[in-house]
Amino acid sequence: MNGKFPQHFLWGGAVAANQVEGAYQADGKGLSTSDLQPQGIFGAITPRTAGDSGIKDVAIDFYHRYPEDIALFAEMGFKCLRTSIAWTRIFPQGDEETPNEAGLAFYDRLFDEMAKYGIQPLITLSHYEMPYGLVKRYGGWGDRRTIDFFERYVRTVFERYKHKVKHWLTFNEINMSLHAPFTGVGLPQESDKSAVYQAIHHQLVASARAVKACHEIVPEGQIGNMLLGGILYPLSCKPEDLLETQRQNRDWLFFGDVQARGYYPAYMQRFFRENGIQVAITEEDRQTLRETIDFISFSYYMSGCVTADPEQYETARGNILDMVPNPHLASSEWGWQIDPIGLRYLLNVLYDRYQKPLFIVENGLGAKDCVEADGSINDDYRINYLNDHLVQVAEAIDDGVEVMGYTSWGPIDLVSASKAEMSKRYGFIHVDRDDAGNGSLERRRKKSFYWYRDVIHSNGTSLKDRR
Ligand code: BG6
Repeated sequence: MNGKFPQHFLWGGAVAANQVEGAYQADGKGLSTSDLQPQGIFGAITPRTAGDSGIKDVAIDFYHRYPEDIALFAEMGFKCLRTSIAWTRIFPQGDEETPNEAGLAFYDRLFDEMAKYGIQPLITLSHYEMPYGLVKRYGGWGDRRTIDFFERYVRTVFERYKHKVKHWLTFNEINMSLHAPFTGVGLPQESDKSAVYQAIHHQLVASARAVKACHEIVPEGQIGNMLLGGILYPLSCKPEDLLETQRQNRDWLFFGDVQARGYYPAYMQRFFRENGIQVAITEEDRQTLRETIDFISFSYYMSGCVTADPEQYETARGNILDMVPNPHLASSEWGWQIDPIGLRYLLNVLYDRYQKPLFIVENGLGAKDCVEADGSINDDYRINYLNDHLVQVAEAIDDGVEVMGYTSWGPIDLVSASKAEMSKRYGFIHVDRDDAGNGSLERRRKKSFYWYRDVIHSNGTSLKDRR
């Protein structure tokens, strides 16, 4: 491949605090919504009792092993590592006046370790978790006061890390609250649409306040949103299918529209009216929303199809969304449809719509790996998946799309979000731990580790167009 990636392209990987750190009660950390879902975001919400345990309590013990892991990322040549700050390490219940110093000190150590190797942090302020204290006492994002608690938290971390972290993201996959309201906005799973959209509105206002605070506090800081890029195609060229596809794509593009343009798009008025959805929006909220993000970030794993006659088709499930399968695509072991060209298409759609730089902050293949007798792990399927997606990123760059970087999901094996599995592995680095929590936690380089190292070192010229 010719050199299409820009010189300062941010190559790296992405993880999230609740899927790697473990140490779920260390150094004063409070319980988060994630801690109450030991079976993952579609598992039951379980009150914690003394002596119980879940796979995420230890996860891959990144809290203690991060120096070894950062050294491995550096060996691959990472320019950037995306992770999140666990809000509950900083404000354990969410509504304290002062932060927890031990939690702040942990992220200082982590960012200092990354700086040793010149790895830039890309930090998500809230990745699929919030303090459970805020859910119990205030009803999560359903209550306006949560906006103020969030602002206190983000201003605290911006002040503390402003010289160490220049790239920030507000809410991970902010559109997922429509499908998993407890994880997204701390509401009961069966909440009605008005309640969910009201909580989402509060979160959008909080996101805009974080953007404002970042611009005020962090010199040369840049802050983006984060969308689950679930791009949908019409199953046929029937006009009804096309219209339904546009409607369903707007379900998630709505979030980007508000965050990138600074106001609610016109199509939402009809949507709210026809669905009997009431959302209280104040004049002050409208002013706040005008503070827009600097760049768009998104995850991309799969595409899907839409039909106006859904009852005639079986749906395929990703971790969050149900989609009608595309007959032209193959699927992963978890049934996620593999569509590298969809990434090029999505990049173009988002760039046409927003004309802001784009950052691909999640993409990867969850698969079962086999450790051979000699200890090697030959994950060619993962190499092929990533290679083919990156070839399409290069194509999009050639199309004129401004792409800031690419952080593959799970550069090290971690606990999966949807079902809290270890056996669904994404990493270039294997972690010895199984679904029952057995294993030494030892780290081991897979074949893809060396492949990704070469991709980064060659700035993408080692990629192969296999079409
Ligand atoms: C995204 C999330 O939805 O997909 C990650 O931001 C998650 O947290 C990833 O891990 C992959 O999903 P899963 O369920 O396979 O872990």
